[in-house]
Amino acid sequence: MELLFLSLLLLTILFLAFSVHFFTLKYKRINGAHLPPGRLGWPVIGESVEFFSMGRKGSPEKFITDRMNKYSTEIFKTSLLGEYFIAFCGPIGNKFLFSNENKLVASWWPRSVEKIFPSSLQTSTIEESKKLRKLLPGFLKPEALQQYLGIMDLTTRRHLETNWTNKEVVMVYPLVKSYTFSLACRLFISIEDPDHVATFAKYFHVLATGIISMAINFPGTPFNSGIKAAEIIREALLKIIKKRKKDLLENMISPTQDILSHMLTMTNESGQFMKEMDIADKILGLLIGGHDTTSSVITSTMKYLAELPKVYDEVLKEQREIAASKEPGELLNWEDIKKMKYSWNVACEVMRLVPPLQGAFREALIDFTYAGFSIPKGWKIYWSGSSTHKNPKYFPDPEQFDPSRFEGTGPAPYTYVPFGGGPRMCPGKEYARLEILVFMHHVVNMFKWEKIIPDEKMIFNPIPEPAKGLPVRLKPNH
Ligand code: HEM
Ligand SMILES: *[C@@H]1O[C@H](CO)[C@@H](O)[C@H](O)[C@H]1NC(C)=O
Ligand SMILES: *[C@@H]1O[C@H](CO)[C@@H](O)[C@H](O)[C@H]1NC(C)=O
Repeated sequence: MELLFLSLLLLTILFLAFSVHFFTLKYKRINGAHLPPGRLGWPVIGESVEFFSMGRKGSPEKFITDRMNKYSTEIFKTSLLGEYFIAFCGPIGNKFLFSNENKLVASWWPRSVEKIFPSSLQTSTIEESKKLRKLLPGFLKPEALQQYLGIMDLTTRRHLETNWTNKEVVMVYPLVKSYTFSLACRLFISIEDPDHVATFAKYFHVLATGIISMAINFPGTPFNSGIKAAEIIREALLKIIKKRKKDLLENMISPTQDILSHMLTMTNESGQFMKEMDIADKILGLLIGGHDTTSSVITSTMKYLAELPKVYDEVLKEQREIAASKEPGELLNWEDIKKMKYSWNVACEVMRLVPPLQGAFREALIDFTYAGFSIPKGWKIYWSGSSTHKNPKYFPDPEQFDPSRFEGTGPAPYTYVPFGGGPRMCPGKEYARLEILVFMHHVVNMFKWEKIIPDEKMIFNPIPEPAKGLPVRLKPNH
């Protein structure tokens, strides 16, 4: 059985390799154009093996920095996931891509992602992206988020009280993941029932595994399970959407309740409501984008705070002052969040060293030249924080954890880019900031902790996570 599967796999890969090789030779103008330096490697496979293995070894940025050293600090070509890529490097490359969105380049996602999210295809068109952009800020901008701060605060407290208090040892990463996921379910679609959330979480796990697997669609492959899980979640979301529509019509709830109500009551220029299926897909995307990234940052923050007692003490001092200024049981408000300056600098430094996303993809909309090289239409482009975040030119002594880098005017423009930039910059940035800070506030006020595995590695899958889930020994902090 396994043998049959393996040989099928091999045959498929060979077949794909040949067809893509032919395709590329025929249609892509490699010859004649003055392409950036770099190696395209094997057909289809290209340099994918190196790209992913560096992530598993714990230094995903090495793929970029090695090639910057070898070819050019500005730009190089490579081939990944069966596509030709040009990596733009440094603050100038980042700035160029961020400011030419929808002019020279547009957002692009790997095929595996498109298969699982049929609508990500649409959101990568200019029109769809603009529509989504108009819609999201309504819910994700600071003014709207202030409304939800209280719920965030209560949910965080409740989570720490039920799942952390009175425990001697906790496994940080899985717990934080379940926390960020329940919070997203609560704030986006008002689902609170723990069983319901747990069922959802199970399918999301299968889905997330599918996205990062090889895009081979046979029954039984992780990719195939991922597509199926996405269908199940979409069906479940459609049911929730239908019920909510009914409740809204019967005036049982206010339209500002959560992002779902927000989407259901919004109309576009011609006065039409969004289609139910589109809403389901958008919510699916938000639930995915909205919890794996923040749980990675919170977990890395817990790791650094365990390793660096001075930084922990400084965060505790700031958060104690805020806690002391409040009545017992009084919820955190916007003013409190604004006071968490040092804590946010710590989170920023965490995201410099361990960004949840290494970078993102674009596609060239037309032929153009950059840094003296031709970028052919249709080629894929990659920008990444890797080319600047650990570069001593922009961050002296880059491996050193130093939150003071973010004091004053902070890093030079386009050198610090964990959320991207330009029109495609992460719309969840403010939401992420609130969630991370509210969690930090409570966790330091309630506990001190030490790592159980002193040299536990981080793996990048591709989102960074501790290899063993970051088990820590907790002590109450009175
Ligand atoms: C610390 C946490 C987070 C980080 C570091 C992060 C980072 C990013 C990055 C680098 C991109 C790609 C930008 C590009 O293509 O240039 C992105 C896109 C996106 N993020 Fe986040 N993100 C985080 C949290 C969130 C949260 C909490 C949400 C939802 C509430 C979210 C929703 C999205 C969406 C919908 C997109 C796609 C936007 C588009 O294509 O126009 N993210 N994020
Ligand atoms: C949190 O604690 C509750 C109550 O003990 C338990 O049912 C739940 O499974 C825990 N959650 C996680 C993610 O461990
Ligand atoms: C408004 O939304 C409807 C339904 O989704 C769509 O068919 C129509 O093209 C949209 N109109 C504009 C102007 O965006």
